[in-house]
Amino acid sequence: MPEENQPRTLSPSQKMANIVALAKRRGFVFPASEIYGGLNGFYDFGPLGAQLKNNIRDAWWRDMVECPPLGPDGKPLTIVGLDSAIIQNPETWVASGHATGFADPMQTCRQCKKLFRADHVWEMLKESDWVKSFADAMSPAQPEDLIVFDSGKAMKWAKTKGRKCAPGLALVRNPEVTLSWMVEDLIREPGKVLGIDDVLRHVATEQKARTGLQTPCPNCGGDLTEPRQFNLMFESRVGAVEDGSGRVWLRPETAQGIFLNYKNILDTGRVKIPFGVAQVGKAFRNEVTPRNFIFRTREFEQMEMEFFCPPDDAPQWYEFWVTTRLKWWRERLGLSPERLQRREHDKDELSHYSTSCADVEYKYPFTEPKFGELEGIAHRGNFDLTQHQARSRTNLEYVDQDGGNTRYLPHVIEPASGLTRGALAVLCDSYEYDPARPSPEWLRIKPELAPIKLGVFPLVNKDGMPEMAGKIYLELRQKFISAYDAKASIGKRYARMDEAGTPFCVTVDGDSLKDGTVTVRDRDTARQERVDASRLKDYLGQKLG
Ligand code: GAP
Repeated sequence: MPEENQPRTLSPSQKMANIVALAKRRGFVFPASEIYGGLNGFYDFGPLGAQLKNNIRDAWWRDMVECPPLGPDGKPLTIVGLDSAIIQNPETWVASGHATGFADPMQTCRQCKKLFRADHVWEMLKESDWVKSFADAMSPAQPEDLIVFDSGKAMKWAKTKGRKCAPGLALVRNPEVTLSWMVEDLIREPGKVLGIDDVLRHVATEQKARTGLQTPCPNCGGDLTEPRQFNLMFESRVGAVEDGSGRVWLRPETAQGIFLNYKNILDTGRVKIPFGVAQVGKAFRNEVTPRNFIFRTREFEQMEMEFFCPPDDAPQWYEFWVTTRLKWWRERLGLSPERLQRREHDKDELSHYSTSCADVEYKYPFTEPKFGELEGIAHRGNFDLTQHQARSRTNLEYVDQDGGNTRYLPHVIEPASGLTRGALAVLCDSYEYDPARPSPEWLRIKPELAPIKLGVFPLVNKDGMPEMAGKIYLELRQKFISAYDAKASIGKRYARMDEAGTPFCVTVDGDSLKDGTVTVRDRDTARQERVDASRLKDYLGQKLG
């Protein structure tokens, strides 16, 4: 489509499709093992993505470990770092409850054999192609959650489009029987507006008397089995013995490595309660429905911190960390305030270990108008230390030497965020679309997080310009991550840098050789300023920090 005819605003799904395409085109994120057809739920971070992720990780590490925040009393907190093994003694996961409790309820389709997370089925049905086709055939004008059921149209759909897109659906397999009881049960008045959920359960059910109402498969409309628990931990094997004695798990969270080292850190670190231990690293979950690009993957990175405190102080620290973390995403990473929110978990949502939990949520394009999790801040009580103390028969009590040598197991507040998911939030939040610009798609990434800070170009690749630009590049790259580019038109080079989120570009042109000045182009305004080349380092230093 010619640029001038393109819409100025994108729908959330168009925006997301563009972000995924840009991430691949510019080398942020690639599907893992792509040349072999990929592997569902796994992604590789390319040159720009790896740098972006490192920059987010470094900002987190700096603000947690190197320069932790001031506590409510105005004094700096003590938080130390850790890098524990991914594979630990399997007893770890028995004690933590993951071996038995870290499971999702799963349903399998009896017709197409696909697996679904029971709590995702309705969400997936609403996005399913066959449901859209069916709803459209019934009453295209209705909002998506309502429908006017018409037996004649339903019969026609079942015998035409339905056969192709929903071969497992009862209405398609046996339309006469399904429709006859359905009319009695549901559609007493013709033209009545019905809820789509109810209609879907009816069209999925051949004989209500025997089976009760069914929920159809989002893929083919078929019958789903009863939910069964499915453990999310990946298994592996340590050593050469194959009798099962070497069975281990890849960690599903970085947190447990911290609890395992709590005593080591107390004994060696000269830390006193309250204190925190922070860790960044990979975690693995055999997610049933990995979805939405890098939002839910099977291998991902976490940035987690366990903050150990006296039990009575835990509610105050919980509040402190929820507020601090929300502010971090807003101010340090620069995410749009209106796209961030705090959400307190309901009691029935809490994990097996926590007594209260709040999420920092972000409004991703694929969750709009709703929000999705970015970070969870949990009050874990002393669940983990109690469990590990009992199972390992190691005393993990803290001896409070300032408080008359009283002994207790500290309580824990845990801000647990996804680094991979953080990178996704930054990509989504910084994506801009403006067909009026020479580079309609660009990333307004905060300069300190941008993978490349500076592009350096000769306007043309001759007349002494490459030599001068090369000299500037060699000098500036010592301070700012820079990219030298002499290929293609200058407009294309700016566009490439805009798509990479590079905040500034320096161009050496004909005048530069005469008067020693260069142009500096600002990504956000696309405006250029002439600056003396000898002042570039200071000039950019002020802007880039
Ligand atoms: N130690 C607590 C814990 O692991 P969680 O809410 O399961 O809590 C923390 O995970 C964060 O890790 C989430 O807020 C999310 O950002 C990230 N995360 C969890 N599962 C993920 C997945 N499958 N893919 C990408 N990120 C994930």
